[in-house]
Amino acid sequence: MTTLLQRYLETTSRRVDAVLDRLLSPKSEEPAAIRKAMRYSLFAGGKRLRPCLVAAAAECCGGRAARVLKAGAAIEMIHTYSLIHDDLPAMDDDNLRRGKPTSHKVFGEALAILAGDGLLTLAFETAAQSAQDCDLGSKATAELIRVIAVGAGTSGMVGGQAADLSAERWQGRLARGRARSLLEYIHLHKTGSLITASLEAGAILAGGSPAARRRLRAYGRAIGLSFQIADDILDVVGDKKKLGKKGSDAANRKLTFVSLYGLEEARAKAESLTREAHRQLRSFGSRGQVLHDLADYIIARDR
Ligand code: IPE
Ligand code: IPE
Ligand code: MG
Ligand code: MG
Ligand code: MG
Repeated sequence: MTTLLQRYLETTSRRVDAVLDRLLSPKSEEPAAIRKAMRYSLFAGGKRLRPCLVAAAAECCGGRAARVLKAGAAIEMIHTYSLIHDDLPAMDDDNLRRGKPTSHKVFGEALAILAGDGLLTLAFETAAQSAQDCDLGSKATAELIRVIAVGAGTSGMVGGQAADLSAERWQGRLARGRARSLLEYIHLHKTGSLITASLEAGAILAGGSPAARRRLRAYGRAIGLSFQIADDILDVVGDKKKLGKKGSDAANRKLTFVSLYGLEEARAKAESLTREAHRQLRSFGSRGQVLHDLADYIIARDR
Protein backbone atom coordinates (compact mmCIF):
# COMPACT_ATOMS: atom_id res chain seq x y z
CA MET A 1 0.00 0.00 0.00
CA THR A 2 1.30 3.47 -0.83
CA THR A 3 2.00 5.91 2.00
CA LEU A 4 -0.61 8.27 0.55
CA LEU A 5 -3.32 5.60 0.70
CA GLN A 6 -2.27 4.42 4.15
CA ARG A 7 -2.55 7.96 5.52
CA TYR A 8 -5.86 8.48 3.74
CA LEU A 9 -7.35 5.24 5.10
CA GLU A 10 -6.15 6.04 8.63
CA THR A 11 -7.48 9.58 8.60
CA THR A 12 -10.83 8.63 7.08
CA SER A 13 -11.27 5.68 9.46
CA ARG A 14 -10.55 7.87 12.48
CA ARG A 15 -12.98 10.57 11.35
CA VAL A 16 -15.73 8.14 10.32
CA ASP A 17 -15.38 6.27 13.62
CA ALA A 18 -15.94 9.53 15.47
CA VAL A 19 -19.06 10.24 13.39
CA LEU A 20 -20.40 6.72 13.95
CA ASP A 21 -19.71 6.95 17.66
CA ARG A 22 -21.77 10.14 17.89
CA LEU A 23 -24.60 8.73 15.77
CA LEU A 24 -24.83 5.63 17.92
CA SER A 25 -24.71 7.35 21.27
CA PRO A 26 -27.34 6.36 23.85
CA LYS A 27 -30.85 7.64 23.12
CA SER A 28 -33.39 7.56 25.88
CA GLU A 29 -36.14 5.86 23.87
CA GLU A 30 -33.92 3.12 22.47
CA PRO A 31 -33.35 -0.30 24.10
CA ALA A 32 -29.67 -0.64 25.09
CA ALA A 33 -29.44 -4.20 23.71
CA ILE A 34 -30.02 -3.24 20.08
CA ARG A 35 -27.57 -0.35 20.22
CA LYS A 36 -24.97 -2.64 21.75
CA ALA A 37 -25.41 -5.17 18.93
CA MET A 38 -25.19 -2.45 16.25
CA ARG A 39 -22.06 -0.97 17.81
CA TYR A 40 -20.44 -4.41 18.20
CA SER A 41 -20.34 -4.98 14.44
CA LEU A 42 -19.71 -1.37 13.46
CA PHE A 43 -16.60 -1.14 15.63
CA ALA A 44 -15.22 -4.63 14.98
CA GLY A 45 -12.37 -3.37 12.77
CA GLY A 46 -13.72 -3.00 9.23
CA LYS A 47 -11.35 -1.43 6.72
CA ARG A 48 -13.75 1.49 6.05
CA LEU A 49 -13.10 1.30 2.32
CA ARG A 50 -16.53 2.56 1.33
CA PRO A 51 -16.29 5.83 3.32
CA CYS A 52 -12.88 6.34 1.69
CA LEU A 53 -14.50 5.92 -1.71
CA VAL A 54 -17.15 8.52 -0.82
CA ALA A 55 -14.45 10.96 0.32
CA ALA A 56 -12.07 10.34 -2.57
CA ALA A 57 -14.86 10.64 -5.17
CA ALA A 58 -15.94 13.95 -3.64
CA GLU A 59 -12.35 15.19 -3.88
CA CYS A 60 -12.17 14.12 -7.54
CA CYS A 61 -15.14 16.43 -8.11
CA GLY A 62 -13.54 19.35 -6.28
CA GLY A 63 -15.30 18.75 -2.94
CA ARG A 64 -13.91 18.30 0.58
CA ALA A 65 -13.63 14.93 2.32
CA ALA A 66 -14.61 16.39 5.70
CA ARG A 67 -18.02 17.39 4.36
CA VAL A 68 -19.01 13.92 3.18
CA LEU A 69 -18.05 11.85 6.23
CA LYS A 70 -21.64 11.41 7.33
CA ALA A 71 -22.61 9.97 3.96
CA GLY A 72 -19.60 7.66 4.26
CA ALA A 73 -20.79 6.60 7.71
CA ALA A 74 -24.26 5.91 6.29
CA ILE A 75 -22.91 3.60 3.61
CA GLU A 76 -20.63 1.88 6.13
CA MET A 77 -23.78 1.12 8.18
CA ILE A 78 -25.43 -0.52 5.16
CA HIS A 79 -22.26 -2.50 4.46
CA THR A 80 -22.07 -3.68 8.07
CA TYR A 81 -25.74 -4.68 8.08
CA SER A 82 -25.14 -6.70 4.89
CA LEU A 83 -22.32 -8.58 6.61
CA ILE A 84 -24.35 -9.33 9.76
CA HIS A 85 -27.11 -10.85 7.64
CA ASP A 86 -24.62 -12.55 5.27
CA ASP A 87 -23.14 -14.46 8.23
CA LEU A 88 -26.49 -15.75 9.55
CA PRO A 89 -27.05 -19.52 9.61
CA ALA A 90 -29.71 -19.16 6.89
CA MET A 91 -27.14 -17.48 4.62
CA ASP A 92 -23.38 -18.26 4.76
CA ASP A 93 -23.47 -19.58 8.32
CA ASP A 94 -20.17 -18.07 9.47
CA ASN A 95 -18.92 -17.84 13.06
CA LEU A 96 -16.10 -15.35 12.64
CA ARG A 97 -16.07 -11.84 11.17
CA ARG A 98 -13.39 -9.17 11.49
CA GLY A 99 -11.60 -11.53 13.88
CA LYS A 100 -14.54 -11.70 16.29
CA PRO A 101 -17.53 -14.01 16.80
CA THR A 102 -20.32 -13.04 14.40
CA SER A 103 -23.28 -11.01 15.64
CA HIS A 104 -25.69 -13.94 15.92
CA LYS A 105 -23.10 -15.92 17.91
CA VAL A 106 -22.91 -13.14 20.48
CA PHE A 107 -26.45 -11.74 20.53
CA GLY A 108 -28.57 -14.54 19.05
CA GLU A 109 -30.18 -14.64 15.63
CA ALA A 110 -33.18 -12.44 16.43
CA LEU A 111 -31.11 -9.52 17.69
CA ALA A 112 -28.60 -9.94 14.84
CA ILE A 113 -31.45 -9.60 12.33
CA LEU A 114 -32.72 -6.53 14.17
CA ALA A 115 -29.23 -5.01 14.40
CA GLY A 116 -29.09 -5.25 10.60
CA ASP A 117 -32.54 -3.70 10.27
CA GLY A 118 -31.54 -0.91 12.67
CA LEU A 119 -28.32 -0.14 10.77
CA LEU A 120 -30.09 -0.05 7.41
CA THR A 121 -32.69 2.37 8.71
CA LEU A 122 -30.24 4.59 10.57
CA ALA A 123 -28.21 4.75 7.37
CA PHE A 124 -31.01 6.56 5.57
CA GLU A 125 -31.57 8.93 8.48
CA THR A 126 -27.84 9.67 8.37
CA ALA A 127 -27.73 10.11 4.59
CA ALA A 128 -30.58 12.61 4.83
CA GLN A 129 -28.70 14.51 7.58
CA SER A 130 -25.61 14.52 5.43
CA ALA A 131 -27.55 16.23 2.63
CA GLN A 132 -28.84 18.82 5.14
CA ASP A 133 -25.32 19.46 6.45
CA CYS A 134 -24.14 20.13 2.88
CA ASP A 135 -27.12 22.38 2.10
CA LEU A 136 -27.87 20.17 -0.85
CA GLY A 137 -30.89 21.26 -2.90
CA SER A 138 -34.04 19.13 -2.93
CA LYS A 139 -33.29 17.55 -6.31
CA ALA A 140 -29.75 16.53 -5.38
CA THR A 141 -30.95 15.30 -1.97
CA ALA A 142 -33.52 13.02 -3.59
CA GLU A 143 -30.84 11.82 -6.01
CA LEU A 144 -28.43 11.03 -3.15
CA ILE A 145 -31.05 8.97 -1.32
CA ARG A 146 -32.14 7.26 -4.55
CA VAL A 147 -28.57 6.25 -5.46
CA ILE A 148 -27.95 4.74 -2.02
CA ALA A 149 -31.31 2.92 -2.04
CA VAL A 150 -30.66 1.45 -5.49
CA GLY A 151 -27.18 0.32 -4.43
CA ALA A 152 -28.51 -1.36 -1.30
CA GLY A 153 -31.76 -2.85 -2.60
CA THR A 154 -33.02 -5.58 -4.88
CA SER A 155 -31.48 -3.89 -7.95
CA GLY A 156 -28.22 -3.79 -6.02
CA MET A 157 -26.74 -5.58 -3.01
CA VAL A 158 -29.86 -7.47 -1.87
CA GLY A 159 -30.50 -8.66 -5.43
CA GLY A 160 -26.90 -9.90 -5.68
CA GLN A 161 -27.17 -11.71 -2.36
CA ALA A 162 -30.39 -13.43 -3.50
CA ALA A 163 -28.70 -14.54 -6.72
CA ASP A 164 -25.64 -15.70 -4.73
CA LEU A 165 -27.88 -18.00 -2.68
CA SER A 166 -29.69 -19.29 -5.77
CA ALA A 167 -26.35 -20.28 -7.31
CA GLU A 168 -25.19 -22.47 -4.41
CA ARG A 169 -24.51 -26.06 -5.54
CA TRP A 170 -24.25 -24.85 -9.15
CA GLN A 171 -21.87 -27.55 -10.33
CA GLY A 172 -23.61 -30.05 -12.58
CA ARG A 173 -26.70 -27.84 -12.58
CA LEU A 174 -25.68 -24.74 -14.55
CA ALA A 175 -24.21 -24.74 -18.06
CA ARG A 176 -20.86 -22.94 -18.24
CA GLY A 177 -22.18 -19.97 -20.20
CA ARG A 178 -25.02 -19.48 -17.74
CA ALA A 179 -22.63 -19.81 -14.80
CA ARG A 180 -20.36 -17.12 -16.27
CA SER A 181 -23.11 -14.54 -16.71
CA LEU A 182 -24.76 -15.35 -13.38
CA LEU A 183 -21.42 -15.00 -11.58
CA GLU A 184 -20.82 -11.58 -13.10
CA TYR A 185 -24.33 -10.52 -12.10
CA ILE A 186 -23.82 -11.75 -8.52
CA HIS A 187 -20.50 -9.99 -7.98
CA LEU A 188 -21.48 -6.74 -9.68
CA HIS A 189 -24.56 -6.57 -7.48
CA LYS A 190 -23.76 -8.08 -4.09
CA THR A 191 -20.50 -6.12 -3.86
CA GLY A 192 -20.20 -3.76 -6.82
CA SER A 193 -23.45 -1.89 -6.30
CA LEU A 194 -22.63 -0.46 -2.89
CA ILE A 195 -19.13 0.44 -4.06
CA THR A 196 -20.54 2.32 -7.04
CA ALA A 197 -23.15 3.98 -4.82
CA SER A 198 -20.33 5.18 -2.52
CA LEU A 199 -18.55 6.87 -5.41
CA GLU A 200 -21.74 8.40 -6.77
CA ALA A 201 -22.74 9.67 -3.34
CA GLY A 202 -19.40 11.49 -3.05
CA ALA A 203 -19.86 12.97 -6.51
CA ILE A 204 -23.43 14.14 -5.81
CA LEU A 205 -22.46 15.78 -2.51
CA ALA A 206 -19.58 17.58 -4.22
CA GLY A 207 -21.71 18.72 -7.17
CA GLY A 208 -19.76 16.64 -9.71
CA SER A 209 -20.62 16.88 -13.42
CA PRO A 210 -22.59 14.12 -15.21
CA ALA A 211 -19.39 13.17 -17.05
CA ALA A 212 -17.45 12.85 -13.78
CA ARG A 213 -20.22 10.69 -12.34
CA ARG A 214 -20.21 8.46 -15.41
CA ARG A 215 -16.48 7.87 -15.12
CA LEU A 216 -16.70 7.21 -11.39
CA ARG A 217 -19.49 4.70 -12.06
CA ALA A 218 -17.36 2.91 -14.63
CA TYR A 219 -14.41 2.91 -12.20
CA GLY A 220 -16.73 1.53 -9.50
CA ARG A 221 -17.96 -1.26 -11.75
CA ALA A 222 -14.35 -2.33 -12.39
CA ILE A 223 -13.14 -2.19 -8.78
CA GLY A 224 -16.43 -3.64 -7.47
CA LEU A 225 -15.83 -6.73 -9.54
CA SER A 226 -12.09 -6.90 -8.80
CA PHE A 227 -12.84 -6.43 -5.09
CA GLN A 228 -15.10 -9.48 -4.99
CA ILE A 229 -12.70 -11.55 -7.12
CA ALA A 230 -10.00 -10.76 -4.54
CA ASP A 231 -12.47 -11.74 -1.78
CA ASP A 232 -13.09 -15.07 -3.55
CA ILE A 233 -9.35 -15.68 -3.86
CA LEU A 234 -8.70 -14.77 -0.21
CA ASP A 235 -11.49 -17.15 0.84
CA VAL A 236 -9.32 -19.98 -0.52
CA VAL A 237 -5.70 -18.90 -0.08
CA GLY A 238 -5.88 -16.06 2.46
CA ASP A 239 -4.31 -16.15 5.93
CA LYS A 240 -7.44 -16.62 8.07
CA LYS A 241 -5.85 -14.80 10.99
CA LYS A 242 -5.18 -11.66 8.97
CA LEU A 243 -8.54 -11.94 7.18
CA GLY A 244 -10.52 -12.24 10.40
CA LYS A 245 -12.90 -14.69 8.72
CA LYS A 246 -12.62 -18.39 8.06
CA GLY A 247 -13.75 -18.77 4.46
CA SER A 248 -16.85 -20.83 3.71
CA ASP A 249 -17.26 -20.70 -0.09
CA ALA A 250 -16.18 -24.30 -0.71
CA ALA A 251 -18.32 -25.66 2.14
CA ASN A 252 -21.34 -23.74 0.79
CA ARG A 253 -20.47 -24.78 -2.79
CA LYS A 254 -20.63 -21.18 -3.94
CA LEU A 255 -20.30 -19.99 -7.49
CA THR A 256 -17.12 -17.86 -7.28
CA PHE A 257 -14.33 -16.72 -9.60
CA VAL A 258 -12.11 -19.40 -8.07
CA SER A 259 -14.65 -22.23 -8.36
CA LEU A 260 -15.51 -21.33 -11.97
CA TYR A 261 -12.19 -20.14 -13.42
CA GLY A 262 -9.49 -21.33 -11.02
CA LEU A 263 -6.99 -19.16 -9.15
CA GLU A 264 -4.78 -18.18 -12.05
CA GLU A 265 -7.53 -16.97 -14.36
CA ALA A 266 -9.31 -15.24 -11.48
CA ARG A 267 -6.11 -13.28 -10.73
CA ALA A 268 -5.70 -12.36 -14.40
CA LYS A 269 -9.28 -11.07 -14.55
CA ALA A 270 -8.78 -8.97 -11.42
CA GLU A 271 -5.62 -7.45 -12.93
CA SER A 272 -7.35 -6.63 -16.19
CA LEU A 273 -10.22 -4.95 -14.30
CA THR A 274 -7.66 -2.91 -12.36
CA ARG A 275 -6.17 -1.61 -15.62
CA GLU A 276 -9.69 -0.66 -16.73
CA ALA A 277 -10.24 1.15 -13.41
CA HIS A 278 -7.05 3.20 -13.91
CA ARG A 279 -8.17 4.13 -17.44
CA GLN A 280 -11.47 5.50 -16.16
CA LEU A 281 -9.63 7.91 -13.81
CA ARG A 282 -7.39 9.50 -16.44
CA SER A 283 -9.33 12.75 -16.78
CA PHE A 284 -9.16 13.44 -13.02
CA GLY A 285 -5.37 13.90 -13.15
CA SER A 286 -3.66 14.09 -9.76
CA ARG A 287 -7.01 14.47 -7.98
CA GLY A 288 -7.64 10.79 -8.74
CA GLN A 289 -4.47 9.53 -7.04
CA VAL A 290 -6.18 8.03 -3.98
CA LEU A 291 -8.60 6.13 -6.22
CA HIS A 292 -5.69 4.90 -8.37
CA ASP A 293 -3.94 3.61 -5.26
CA LEU A 294 -7.17 2.04 -3.97
CA ALA A 295 -7.66 0.10 -7.22
CA ASP A 296 -4.19 -1.44 -6.81
CA TYR A 297 -4.65 -2.11 -3.09
CA ILE A 298 -7.98 -3.89 -3.58
CA ILE A 299 -6.40 -6.78 -5.46
CA ALA A 300 -3.14 -6.85 -3.48
CA ARG A 301 -4.70 -6.80 0.01
CA ASP A 302 -4.41 -9.63 2.51
CA ARG A 303 -7.54 -8.73 4.52
C1 IPE B 1 -16.34 -7.89 2.84
O1 IPE B 1 -16.13 -6.52 2.63
C2 IPE B 1 -17.59 -8.33 2.17
C3 IPE B 1 -17.63 -8.10 0.75
C4 IPE B 1 -18.44 -7.25 0.19
C5 IPE B 1 -16.73 -8.86 -0.10
P1 IPE B 1 -14.85 -5.81 3.25
O2 IPE B 1 -13.63 -6.64 2.93
O3 IPE B 1 -14.82 -4.40 2.83
O4 IPE B 1 -15.14 -5.92 4.79
P2 IPE B 1 -14.64 -5.06 6.05
O5 IPE B 1 -15.63 -3.99 6.23
O6 IPE B 1 -13.28 -4.53 5.77
O7 IPE B 1 -14.67 -6.03 7.19
C1 IPE C 1 -20.90 -11.00 0.63
O1 IPE C 1 -20.02 -11.76 -0.10
C2 IPE C 1 -21.10 -9.70 0.06
C3 IPE C 1 -22.13 -8.97 0.84
C4 IPE C 1 -22.98 -8.20 0.26
C5 IPE C 1 -22.22 -9.08 2.29
P1 IPE C 1 -19.29 -12.88 0.74
O2 IPE C 1 -20.27 -13.77 1.40
O3 IPE C 1 -18.25 -13.50 -0.11
O4 IPE C 1 -18.56 -11.97 1.85
P2 IPE C 1 -17.66 -12.56 3.03
O5 IPE C 1 -16.57 -13.37 2.38
O6 IPE C 1 -18.56 -13.40 3.89
O7 IPE C 1 -17.12 -11.34 3.70
MG1 MG D 1 -22.25 -14.40 1.10
MG1 MG E 1 -20.15 -14.56 3.42
MG1 MG F 1 -16.31 -14.01 0.54
